[in-house]
Amino acid sequence: MTLAHGRPYLAIPGPSVVPDRVLAAMHRPAPNIYEGALVEMVDTLWADLKTVAQTRGHVALYIANGHGGWEAASANVFSRGDRALVLATGRFGIGWGESMRGLGVETEVLDFGRAAPADPDRVAEALRADRAHRIKAVALTHVDTATSAKNDIRAIRRVLDDLGHPALLMVDCIAAMGCDEFRMDDWGVDVAVAASQKGLMVPPGLAFIWFSDRARDVGRKADLRSPYWDWERRAFGEQFYQYFGGTAPTHHLFGLRESLDMLVHEEGIEAAWARHARLARAVWAAGMAWSQEGAFRLNIAEPAARGHAVTAMRLASPDGTRLRRWCEHEAGVTLGIGLGMAEPGTPEADAFFRLAHMGHVNAHMVLGALSVMQAGMAALGIAHGSGALDAATEALRDQAGSETAAPPAARMASAI
Ligand SMILES: Cc1ncc(COP(=O)(O)O)c(C=O)c1O
Repeated sequence: MTLAHGRPYLAIPGPSVVPDRVLAAMHRPAPNIYEGALVEMVDTLWADLKTVAQTRGHVALYIANGHGGWEAASANVFSRGDRALVLATGRFGIGWGESMRGLGVETEVLDFGRAAPADPDRVAEALRADRAHRIKAVALTHVDTATSAKNDIRAIRRVLDDLGHPALLMVDCIAAMGCDEFRMDDWGVDVAVAASQKGLMVPPGLAFIWFSDRARDVGRKADLRSPYWDWERRAFGEQFYQYFGGTAPTHHLFGLRESLDMLVHEEGIEAAWARHARLARAVWAAGMAWSQEGAFRLNIAEPAARGHAVTAMRLASPDGTRLRRWCEHEAGVTLGIGLGMAEPGTPEADAFFRLAHMGHVNAHMVLGALSVMQAGMAALGIAHGSGALDAATEALRDQAGSETAAPPAARMASAI
């Protein structure tokens, strides 16, 4: 007998839960791709996408996943042999570096391990050593989904400015866009990358690149730019098809329109940031209580360095995998696998797992997942501290929390 019947909850860091109204908006006959509803609707997307990233710069959309988004960003910025400084705080930071090298970009990788954010002092050291300014860009994740480490983007921008180093600042926001506070213009980010299947609540298949005028200028000389990735055609093309490098991803676009209505026009991007921050604090409060006994640990010790949309955790091996399996098969909640935390296939790899709380997520879903995890640990005889669910509900009561006091977000109302 299993308790997994009923609506399953996919609590993995992408694909995230797709709202029914987004699926409904996608459930339609194929539209005319030359004129009419689709063409008119698409013109409404760009301003809202800029509001989500808090930029008055430019945005290009691609039929791609996050890996494609990486390549689109690199192809529009670099020439073969250019140098990038990659700040790795998990599997995805490492992955972006590998993607760049695959394109012929030289990378200097600063690896900050699997349980910490990037250290601005080490970044300053590497940039100071680059007297000839060969480093064309500094690239990092906002949040590395594998470790849930959140990097202080403003601190990296300050390092660049203090040293007067001209490198572009490129940020992989795939796990954070629409969830963690992100202010592209205010924070001096030149290139931001995201994908549709996380905070933007649309099935996988779309990637987004936001870019500044400075990135556009620097990119004019990029010899890696290929026709399909060329953001000039995407962001400034005269013809509708140019926005997509060919046929538009019709149904995904109708889904995106619906999710942007939810995120930008109904909830508001700031409220979405605040909702994710509050739900994340509830997860952390439960995690801290569980870690009072046994081997349970939140992967990132410092709250300010934790992402708000995914939380990496560990137990003694193989309990991470045992708990994940119990939650899915016995209770209908799917947790994320551990990723890049230990050599795949080694016993240690079975210690890690992740709980995602991104996009279309509410208190019921998060408290439900935490309760199921606690029930699983009890059922499997895994030692854990008590009072976790009380701590989580207590954390939810705390509206403000204490991490950041930021000015209100602006609506970026400008056409493509
Ligand atoms: C931070 C980050 N970067 C890049 C990617 C790669 O994206 P995709 O799996 O869509 O190719 C992911 C996917 O989980 C991610 O979380």
